Amino acid sequence: MIVVSGGTGFIGSHTTVELMEAGYEVLVIDDLSNSRIEVLDGIAKITGRKPVFEQFDLCDKGRVMDCFKKYPGIEAIIHFAARKAVPESVDKPLMYYENNLLSLINLLGSMNAHGVKYFVFSSSCTVYGQPDTLPVTESSPIKKATSPYGNTKQIAEEIIQDVVSAGDPIEAILLRYFNPIGAHPTAHIGELPLGIPLNLVPFLTQTAIGIREELKVFGDDYNTPDGSAIRDYINVVDLSRAHVVAINRLLEGKNNSALETFNLGTGRGLSVLEIINTFKKATGVKVNYRVVSRREGDIEQVFADTTLANNELGWKAVIPLEETLRSAWKWEQNIRQQS
Ligand code: WQD
Repeated sequence: MIVVSGGTGFIGSHTTVELMEAGYEVLVIDDLSNSRIEVLDGIAKITGRKPVFEQFDLCDKGRVMDCFKKYPGIEAIIHFAARKAVPESVDKPLMYYENNLLSLINLLGSMNAHGVKYFVFSSSCTVYGQPDTLPVTESSPIKKATSPYGNTKQIAEEIIQDVVSAGDPIEAILLRYFNPIGAHPTAHIGELPLGIPLNLVPFLTQTAIGIREELKVFGDDYNTPDGSAIRDYINVVDLSRAHVVAINRLLEGKNNSALETFNLGTGRGLSVLEIINTFKKATGVKVNYRVVSRREGDIEQVFADTTLANNELGWKAVIPLEETLRSAWKWEQNIRQQS
């Protein structure tokens, strides 16, 4: 049994689908503070069955320990559960440090107490800040975090490193995501931002469907070809499949060391304006946008060197951008029909 914490979230739900389709039994743990229980129905529509589900806060150590006792068949954990809104983390740093770090510490502590060895951690390219050279590799310097959210990812990686170095019987893989976008091709699950979306693609699709007046492009005065900022946008299903590869690697003992780190991106940088134009090309839908000033804390450009993940994991992002943007659009239309 594989635990997926945060399994009703965006990447967690897609990873749950891929794990179930690969034959794993999945236990989803989620407190539903930033997602909806109906996501489990979406997973069932795709896989034919719901994963096992436990609703509780991972900051409650007693509940975490009880859960491990209840499910003695737990073999590995993929830990997604965390708050991830950069501006919110600036306003509420303590909530971010408590939620994102205490949940991690409780999981690692329970693993040790119950002999669970394998841990996959959802990290982020945000740990690199604005890299000095691009593309960014796993050995690129970790820059000082520009937000409490980013800092929780850096501190979490250090906690995991220290636990592994202390000789705890835990073996871990850190997966540093670039910018996950898109939705499952069935449109039964996707990105479900509660409230005003902070991320580009959900705001873009909500503008396309008429929920938002216009998409604000945060700056076109960057030192990039069209002036708008560049990111490495990776399809969420491609990203989820990398988690199955990482779990297989650990369970089959194929990891080269007790702690490995991989960048999960496409290796290609795309600008905000390129995303907008590609969305129109892929869906025929023109998005109403206006260029405004830069967003505080944004970096100019980042994209991944994916050599290690391609060669070591044997994983590569393959879903084309136009297909990815069509999946995001189909998902947006689907949820609007349901609401
Ligand atoms: C992408 C680009 C914006 C919205 C953050 C976190 C990262 C990860 C993904 C959790 C930027 C521009 C955006 C809009 C815009 N989160 N943009 N108008 O900031 O690269 O990364 O989310 O794991 O850790 O840092 O993603 O989607 O917010 O922005 O112009 O309405 O789109 O300026 O250039 P970001 P994003």
